Amino acid sequence: MKGGLGIDAYLVLGILVFFALMEIIIGHLKNSKRTFSDWIQEAGGFFVLSLIIKPFIVIATIGVGHNIFPQAQNAFANVSLWIVFPLYILVDDLMQYWYHRSGHEYEFLWKLHRSHHQAEEMGFFISYRNAALYYLLMPNIWYLALITFLGGGYAVAIGLVAKQLIIIGSHSTIKWDEPLYKNKFTSHLMKVVERIIIAPAFHHGHHGRSRLDGISDPNGNFGNMFSLWDQAFGSAVFSRQYPSEYGLLTDHKENWQSSYLYPLIKSKDENSLLSKGYKKIDTSSLEPAIIELEKNKSYLWCQCGKSKNQPFCDGSHHGSKIKPLLFKAMRDGKTRLCNCKQSKTRPFCDNTHLELIQNIESD
Ligand code: FES
Repeated sequence: MKGGLGIDAYLVLGILVFFALMEIIIGHLKNSKRTFSDWIQEAGGFFVLSLIIKPFIVIATIGVGHNIFPQAQNAFANVSLWIVFPLYILVDDLMQYWYHRSGHEYEFLWKLHRSHHQAEEMGFFISYRNAALYYLLMPNIWYLALITFLGGGYAVAIGLVAKQLIIIGSHSTIKWDEPLYKNKFTSHLMKVVERIIIAPAFHHGHHGRSRLDGISDPNGNFGNMFSLWDQAFGSAVFSRQYPSEYGLLTDHKENWQSSYLYPLIKSKDENSLLSKGYKKIDTSSLEPAIIELEKNKSYLWCQCGKSKNQPFCDGSHHGSKIKPLLFKAMRDGKTRLCNCKQSKTRPFCDNTHLELIQNIESD
């Protein structure tokens, strides 16, 4: 294939092997609690993506382009790499930012991306843990194929290697930024670096269980290569620390077949988000919850009205744009927390539920 694709495949494999060896040497792989299902989704996902999905998209795009727009083929061949490369990589990463963010904010895409967040340990292979359809619909793989068709193969090859280095590095358990943040001289440098590329602490925060730890934000830090988009679109959280717990707040274990092949294979478990016709139930109510709060303790109050642990969040908001509300109790004692989700003093009850009851009765 014209323009450098090919060598980059070996380089990406080299990056993967490098991080795998580092994780083996440091003992992280030996201590891993990954199950067979985890391995099959992560390693299997990598091979299917690399050997089937990406080649299919590239060949299909080039084939269609060659037949329908033959005059456009290699149109970038004489354009400087200094122009094609930034154009390719910035547009690619911006598209992936929004695709990934949509994977958290729209239910169908969340079903395809959810397995990525079920992993309770970080590691070099997690980057490839998503449903097959998530990759097939990923706009930047199609964009990569388009740029290759237009003759920007070298830009794509360089971009892929740089991108995989950052992405695999930010998922790995090798926390290369940790000593740099701790050292008083390099910490200043890291505060500049983190504003440009995704450092491991930034992305580990995205995989943390919830905001209750004061480090994580599963509804933030969506970037893949550059942190610029998170900063531009208000989703950046720079905690410079690592979560102690990874995964979902409430995890409903899925088998790898439905996780990887949804919607082709659906879960037979009717409580699973991946089962046929599954619907989230509205669990809000017209009765406030009387809760004993502990002074200075943080709580996550459910705003979406779908939690099975009302009035608190259980992660059911994933797949929507609604996020839980984090608050700290100011005193010990019983408090009325809003359960109708309409209070103007949320998370506390302001008796709006009484108005709602009156409205229902007068209807
Ligand atoms: S379950 Fe998290 S906001 Fe409702």
